[in-house]
Amino acid sequence: MKWLIYCLIYGFVVCSEAEEKKPNFILIVTDDQDVVLNGLVPMKNVQNLLVKQGITFQNAFTSSPLCCPSRATILSGMYAHNHKTTNNSKSGNCYGYHWRKYIEPNALPVQLQSNGYETFFAGKYLNEFNSDKVPPGWDHFYGLFGNSKYYNYRMNENGQTKNYTNKYLTDLLDERLIDFLKGQHTSKPFFAYVAPPAPHQPFTPADRHKDAFPDVKAPRTPNFNIPSGNLDKHWLVSFSTKIPDSLLTTMDMYYRMRWQSLLAVDEMIGNLVKTLKSIDELDNTYILFTSDNGYHIGQFAQPWDKRQPYETDIRVPFVIRGPNIGAKQISEAPVSLVDLVPTVKDLAGGMKYGNEDGISIRKFMESPNVIDKSFHRQLLIQYWGEGNFKMYEPKCPFTKEDELAGCSKEAGCHCEDSRNNTYACVRHFAYRTNRIYCEFKDNEQFVEAYDLASDQYQLTNLGYEMLPIERAMYSLSLHNMSKCEGVSCQISNF
Ligand SMILES: *[C@@H]1O[C@H](CO)[C@@H](O)[C@H](O)[C@H]1NC(C)=O
Ligand SMILES: *[C@@H]1O[C@H](CO)[C@@H](O)[C@H](O)[C@H]1NC(C)=O
Ligand SMILES: *[C@@H]1O[C@H](CO)[C@@H](O)[C@H](O)[C@H]1NC(C)=O
Ligand SMILES: *[C@@H]1O[C@H](CO)[C@@H](O)[C@H](O)[C@H]1NC(C)=O
Repeated sequence: MKWLIYCLIYGFVVCSEAEEKKPNFILIVTDDQDVVLNGLVPMKNVQNLLVKQGITFQNAFTSSPLCCPSRATILSGMYAHNHKTTNNSKSGNCYGYHWRKYIEPNALPVQLQSNGYETFFAGKYLNEFNSDKVPPGWDHFYGLFGNSKYYNYRMNENGQTKNYTNKYLTDLLDERLIDFLKGQHTSKPFFAYVAPPAPHQPFTPADRHKDAFPDVKAPRTPNFNIPSGNLDKHWLVSFSTKIPDSLLTTMDMYYRMRWQSLLAVDEMIGNLVKTLKSIDELDNTYILFTSDNGYHIGQFAQPWDKRQPYETDIRVPFVIRGPNIGAKQISEAPVSLVDLVPTVKDLAGGMKYGNEDGISIRKFMESPNVIDKSFHRQLLIQYWGEGNFKMYEPKCPFTKEDELAGCSKEAGCHCEDSRNNTYACVRHFAYRTNRIYCEFKDNEQFVEAYDLASDQYQLTNLGYEMLPIERAMYSLSLHNMSKCEGVSCQISNF
């Protein structure tokens, strides 16, 4: 009750000014937006209003390169082995029993609400969300049924189910957010989480954007369309053959559509900054922009998807603007989506740490250059391969027993996933160290490791070349992290 004391000492005028309002938050989470393949480039408002006015984390990672496990992490601050959402199916706890019973009732919005926040959600919640009830913690809720769509979708709008046919989803979310912001005239701080569908498959842009970027093509990175055969990659990737030219045209088109579909999100960023200014809350609002996971187009001759442990898939955009953050800051500090919950709680103030596996990155926001001789951090990345008999594609030359998934004729029968594309990695940053170490749960216990400092395109697998002692240390550390909980996830003894 700081203001009361001021009141008594200084009288009423000073007293109302002295009352400190907690900061607001707007968290934007796009769907499958890469950062490695220039996914942020088409977004001019993100560049001008967020990147140039705030801090960009250049080493930001997802905890799992798949929507539902990642979104469960964003809401809970836990790694997937703790929130137990391991894939996009109900059986993998995507909006499943464990989630609803044990995780959701104590997720971020619930905690913020009891800390005096007004909470707002709009967009894709969790892939298997299909309820006409409002999940706990949300004062305002506009949740999409199921996975990302652009038209012909179903919404839960504050408990009322509504179908939309012709309204472009990002535009609906934009309107809901702006209406919510315009209604914020109270002293109550707010937390708004907006999860637009872009640039997820089918990559549909708004009509007004469908002719944008006519000449843009998927970047031909040094690992583009390089079959991995002799590069020692794991089973699923190792049998990829070179992508034919006819398919490259489709990939370029999809890349272009991804950029186009992001333009409506970018317009929303412009609108929300303008609205925050008009309600006089811009200086007291943190705007956080990120994505649930990255994406690849063509790397190692994989046409288009996520789910791989490579930089394209695990790196995400991560930009924050807000109170006390200087303009045009760039930080090399390694951060993960698992850090969002503890960071928001730290910035909100007055909240207790719970079961979070991440750390508050506030200290990186205050001093962005942290990688000195004593610095080290390891981030955990986990993935459970999908692939069962139901996902069998008879048009492709594989059998059901191959347990492959996402093999489409359109993608030249390249497959996106397999049951044994199951792995865990530690992404390691320290002074002059920038590495990844991964172990697959397959018949070969396959290992992939890369020195990103010297091999940013991951062409040389060091898994079988590193010193045995070094490999043993990474392996131990990975096994530790795969079982960690709370503080034991935050330290690494490496
Ligand atoms: C809305 O769409 C769902 C399927 O997504 C359908 O089951 C339901 O009948 C539709 N409701 C209306 C009022 O059209
Ligand atoms: C998702 O995970 C569950 C639990 O491990 C598993 O039974 C299910 O087959 C997985 N779904 C897919 C599509 O692989
Ligand atoms: C991956 O799974 C498939 C199907 O069960 C199997 O044929 C293949 O040998 C496995 N590869 C590895 C490395 O485990
Ligand atoms: C793994 O965990 C054990 C027990 O907590 C600890 O003693 C060891 O130092 C850890 N090793 C690594 C490499 O993190």
